[in-house]
Amino acid sequence: MERTLCIIKPDGVQSKVVGKVIDRIEQEGFTILGMKRARLSKAVAEDFYAVHKERPFFGELCEFMSSGPVVLIALARDNAINHWRTVIGATNPAEADDGTIRKLYARSKGENTVHGSDSVENGILEISKFFSEMELIEQK
Ligand code: CMP
Repeated sequence: MERTLCIIKPDGVQSKVVGKVIDRIEQEGFTILGMKRARLSKAVAEDFYAVHKERPFFGELCEFMSSGPVVLIALARDNAINHWRTVIGATNPAEADDGTIRKLYARSKGENTVHGSDSVENGILEISKFFSEMELIEQK
């Protein structure tokens, strides 16, 4: 079973689509290993998105991700990385396929409702930033 980190971003929490995203997670056959609501500090957001630090949108991204509460969800499923990325859709909601979470709920490229890890290694690494192994329960 692969693991991926879902973050319901501040716009998703503010728009009250947390329940809809969790419903979709369950419909898509993921196991929720762990879940918590959190408010990321700017420093935590900067560490999490360090790979983008040279990009022009880095400041805006970290500002936004620390602007309000998020929901962190550790997910497991066969092919979790690709499956979740297909379910959430393209970064830019204007380019996302119909029925994807970003097409349905996202406001813009930056305020795009949900995060998904981009590789198996990053799925493990990103989950470990927010959850201890004891908080990750594989039992269904
Ligand atoms: P995500 O895939 O979760 O991780 C990187 C994030 O950078 C991405 O979601 C977007 O929210 C954000 N991002 C990418 N491109 C832009 C952009 N042009 N302007 C603002 N934010 C962006």
